[in-house]
Amino acid sequence: MMDVQVQKIDALIGEMTLEEKIGQLQQCGPSLVGAFEVSFEELLDMMFDGRISQEEFGRLMSTAEKDFHEDNLRAGKIGSYNGVGDALTANRLQKIAVEESRLGIPLLFGYDVIHGFRTVTPIPLAESCAWDPELWQRTARMAAEEATAAGIHMTFAPMVDVAKDARWGRVSEGAGEDTLLNGDYGAAKVRGFQGEDLSQADAMAACLKHFAAYGAGEAGKDYNRVDMSEQRLWEEYLPAYKACIDAGARAVMPAFNDLNGVPCTVNEWLLRDVLRDEWGFDGITVSDANAIAECVNHGVVADRQAAAKEALRAGIDMDMTSNVYAENLAGLIEAGEIAEELLDQAVYRILKLKIELGLFENPYQTNEDKEKRTLVKREYRALAREVATKSMVLLKNESILPLNPQQKIAVFGALANDPGQMTGAWAIGAQENDCFSLAQAMDAQGIRYAYHPGIVDGSVATDEIEKAVASADVVILAIGEQKEESGEAASKADISLPAIQLELAEMLIQTGKPVVAVLFNGRPLAIPTVAEQVPAILEAWHPGIEAGNAILDILYGVVNPSAKLTTTFPFATGQCPLYYDHISTGRPGGKSKFTSKYLDTPLEPVYPFGYGLSYTTFSYSDLQVETTDDVVRLAVTVTNSGARAGEEIVQCYVQDKVAKRARPVKQLKAYKKVLLQPGESITMGFAVLFEKLGYYDRKMDYTLEVGAFTFFVGGNSRDTLSETTYLSFG
Ligand code: NOJ
Repeated sequence: MMDVQVQKIDALIGEMTLEEKIGQLQQCGPSLVGAFEVSFEELLDMMFDGRISQEEFGRLMSTAEKDFHEDNLRAGKIGSYNGVGDALTANRLQKIAVEESRLGIPLLFGYDVIHGFRTVTPIPLAESCAWDPELWQRTARMAAEEATAAGIHMTFAPMVDVAKDARWGRVSEGAGEDTLLNGDYGAAKVRGFQGEDLSQADAMAACLKHFAAYGAGEAGKDYNRVDMSEQRLWEEYLPAYKACIDAGARAVMPAFNDLNGVPCTVNEWLLRDVLRDEWGFDGITVSDANAIAECVNHGVVADRQAAAKEALRAGIDMDMTSNVYAENLAGLIEAGEIAEELLDQAVYRILKLKIELGLFENPYQTNEDKEKRTLVKREYRALAREVATKSMVLLKNESILPLNPQQKIAVFGALANDPGQMTGAWAIGAQENDCFSLAQAMDAQGIRYAYHPGIVDGSVATDEIEKAVASADVVILAIGEQKEESGEAASKADISLPAIQLELAEMLIQTGKPVVAVLFNGRPLAIPTVAEQVPAILEAWHPGIEAGNAILDILYGVVNPSAKLTTTFPFATGQCPLYYDHISTGRPGGKSKFTSKYLDTPLEPVYPFGYGLSYTTFSYSDLQVETTDDVVRLAVTVTNSGARAGEEIVQCYVQDKVAKRARPVKQLKAYKKVLLQPGESITMGFAVLFEKLGYYDRKMDYTLEVGAFTFFVGGNSRDTLSETTYLSFG
């Protein structure tokens, strides 16, 4: 930061009253009023507690008006808004801040731009299956261009919570179960959102979340406790956040959960010692929604006043919508309970971000081009389609796909004909009429088909189905989850398909016609029956606005599928958390009784991490491992052994065979995507730095331990070539 900017901030802080300083820390959600007397958050609580029904909630919401607390804004008591997603409202509020408040400090608008804004792209879990940082960055850039045109300055993304438990609904919002992939995904998103220069009109700050280990909540239950060794935290969870900080993320959101008993929101060790002192982060921290107030529920503070004190002390700069700072900080400072200097530091960081974003020079969104606001741009649509095809994982194919245009098709399942479901969780900028369902895309592309939802009033519509199937060559079955079944507050105790969907699938299989299951879901599902009995399965996830076209691209072979799972698919919910990089036990699972396993499920998952098929096949040979200086160099020959061009995601794993702490049986260290023509072979090289092969020893020192290491290379985490070598790290 240039000296003159530092002086500007210091001068501003010098002029500010206590109230105005606290105002900068206040992030307001527009509360909905008019229809009810309680805040939006309370209303949500009432619905979640069952005090009002979902219908009643919807009715109240639809009659409510938005209160932006304009008097408070004028009085300098609001520094930021969450959830204002249109340029006209943003400009109106900004004008009050800039022209009518005493100091004219511009507002910062934050918003959940999670997987696209208006142009909704696949949910993050899906997009991660592309294993493609360049693509992840491009889609983030697109999202930033669109969101900034709507007046947004900061997105509450990326989420890089490593998630190993499929019961957790928010598995959908991150890059799956692996540490390296989450870090690469998050860093690419940060680069894409923030662009080259944060002060540009189309750049927005990235607020990475949820710091830390939110994905490890006990039993996959949202908001639940996280009790974890420091070693595991540093090795498996923290590196992904660190990768985003290193990529320059300007904001961090602490997680709702407690970490070993201390809520992240008041966790000074996490927010000061690790984040600021050790990692050198100098951006802002923003609490999660209402999280400061919820420290009272955690039972670590007696009341809201104590929560305010502990949160500021721990290092929370901005209070998202709990009002706890606004209500309590002045009193605490005046009573000498907390130093004003701490407040000044938070204000300093917030003003600095506003300067970096260029808000003092350009507070308004000047895009008055109506066309841009009302249409999804053609090139955005094209990218949404490209990324959706690159995210869909072909799980099974018994020579049924690709389809040929002559085949007669019957389509079943409501999800094939429900455009609004295609966006998945967290697509609040989405407009339903932007979305293409499978049926709509078939109509648009002139593909003739018979359609039936398959399930009517809770029963399988056997007669209609039989009629429709009779004249079809191939059956497409759309099954899975509604978008509300994943995302926040959407944990499940059972991740299998509903019985009625299985009944429909079984009925279709019994017709003897080849069935292609297209799965729509926001988490791994336990689908052992479908996996065994349905001959072709495409995991489409929640693919975004171009869902239908992208699915057709894959089903008809216009695009050869290349995506690979970033999350393990278990047989049964009871196996959760199930993930590839587990450590070995003293009794590794096996055939004999006294080994680590369940009696009632197979040992292995249905589909392992890294798995995904193509319309061609790839073979691996000749793995070589060499060490030079401080690098392990691997070379492997990959051959396209099938009949069509295709992309393969080549994965490289390692196992430290003997160490003073048990090490993962396999850990992803590198990956690369390669396009190969039929019959073409390539020698692919990977370099793994020695420093990536260490671990936190029994004293929590990061150690490179001399000994045998096995390197694995392959097209998924299960089927690999391997080579063991002795490393002395000399
Ligand atoms: C709560 C969620 O946990 C967080 O991810 C989100 O960004 C905020 N609400 C703001 O909407």
